[in-house]
Amino acid sequence: MLAVAVLAAGKGTRMKSALPKVLQPLAGATLVERVLASCQNLQPQRQLLIVGHQAERVEQALAGGGGSCPLEFVLQQPQNGTGHAVQQLLEPLAGFEGELLVLNGDVPLLREQTITDLLEQHRSSGAAVTLLTARLADPTGYGRVFADASGAVSAIVEHRDCSEAQRANDLINAGIYCFNWKQLAAVLPQLSTDNDQGELYLTDTVAMLRPAMHLEVPDADEINGINDRLQLAQCEAVIQERLRRHWMAEGVTFVDPASCTLSDGTRFGRDVVVEPQCHFRGTAEIGDGCRIGPGTLIDNSRLGERVEVLYSVVREAVVAADCAIGPYAQLRPGAQLAQGCRVGNFVEIKQARIGAGSKVNHLSYIGDADLGENVNVGAGTITANYDGVNKHRTVIGAGSKTGANSVLVAPIQLGANVTVGAGSTLTKDVPAGALALGRAKQLVKENWQAGS
Ligand code: UD1
Ligand code: CA
Repeated sequence: MLAVAVLAAGKGTRMKSALPKVLQPLAGATLVERVLASCQNLQPQRQLLIVGHQAERVEQALAGGGGSCPLEFVLQQPQNGTGHAVQQLLEPLAGFEGELLVLNGDVPLLREQTITDLLEQHRSSGAAVTLLTARLADPTGYGRVFADASGAVSAIVEHRDCSEAQRANDLINAGIYCFNWKQLAAVLPQLSTDNDQGELYLTDTVAMLRPAMHLEVPDADEINGINDRLQLAQCEAVIQERLRRHWMAEGVTFVDPASCTLSDGTRFGRDVVVEPQCHFRGTAEIGDGCRIGPGTLIDNSRLGERVEVLYSVVREAVVAADCAIGPYAQLRPGAQLAQGCRVGNFVEIKQARIGAGSKVNHLSYIGDADLGENVNVGAGTITANYDGVNKHRTVIGAGSKTGANSVLVAPIQLGANVTVGAGSTLTKDVPAGALALGRAKQLVKENWQAGS
């Protein structure tokens, strides 16, 4: 039997944030979501989350999470240290037999394989506790692990409690432990607050448990703990590098990889070219042969094959194959482009379906609209969708053309193959095949000169 406990009750004082530390976002997922995700393949029987500081907010953020095994929230109030946090499990885990995997909620880069290795080593060695360690060039801030050549650990001493000589030890505690629960439960009540912070330290149990073993991770990046914004940024950089390397290996070209950011939910087809300064957020699906950027943000959107997007923002939009977007276009939520559309510079599209082959090339706002196929929207055409209280729809039939600077005051319907004269303001429906003009007649007075 395996139980997983994530320590997520701390305030994260050093972040200086209104948000609890474990809810800080990292490449689109919170720290605690990442920690939980890293142990899902172990299929634990129990998953306990220790919450305290802004407990309700953390619970809300994780409601329904946890994969196949439901999350049990355990309240730690007040937060008197990591040992005190794990003491709160004595009641919910009374009678539990098996291993307890303890994960610090602020160590988000662990690979699933590393945790699997830790559990396997723990089970095969029969240790009372096995913890993950790493050797760091700069171990400042971490607990130091004192171990012999066989991997047996005698104690962990927190950085602030270390003597000068102890600080020279570069073997650090990652904050990830596999305990035999019964043995841990027997020593938990013996913890004391005899340390620099006056807290109960989980790390002190290690000196009370025998045998205590450690497993050193070769890639020290994995065990980065996040206590402040600098470490948050460093972890973000590690995740971004992992994501870019993954997608380059899958056949994506990045012209300037370091200038682009991805999310876990980004998916690329083959032979996509990503130019400099492009950012992908949420779930973004980019089809084969797309060319993105430079200077583009794609957020929660789906692009078909061979789409080109240049200096533009695409949010919660769906774009079919062979469309060209930008430069300087904005697709807002609910924009749906059928195959082969062209959306040009300074065009904004929101909650609108644009039929195949249609063009909205310059300076337009198309909102709450349905455009048929092969519509040509003239420069500066605006769908006036808002009367100050409600939004109304505009429908433009296939093959229609609007002249430059047309205003279509919704609700309004234009049939197929309508032509709208330049500068028109239309307030009434137009039947198929008609020419609609809605502008003042031009007046010319010859031989007119002001003041004469
Ligand atoms: C801890 C370890 C240190 C290790 C480091 C690795 C202890 C005493 N020290 O130090 O050896 O090198 O992690 O990153 O454990 N938490 C609670 N309740 C509390 C206090 C903390 O749930 O009362 C949670 C925090 O939300 C956080 C985690 O425990 O997710 C670690 O706490 P933190 O204060 O960051 O410990 P460190 O000083 O980093
Ligand atoms: Ca920490």
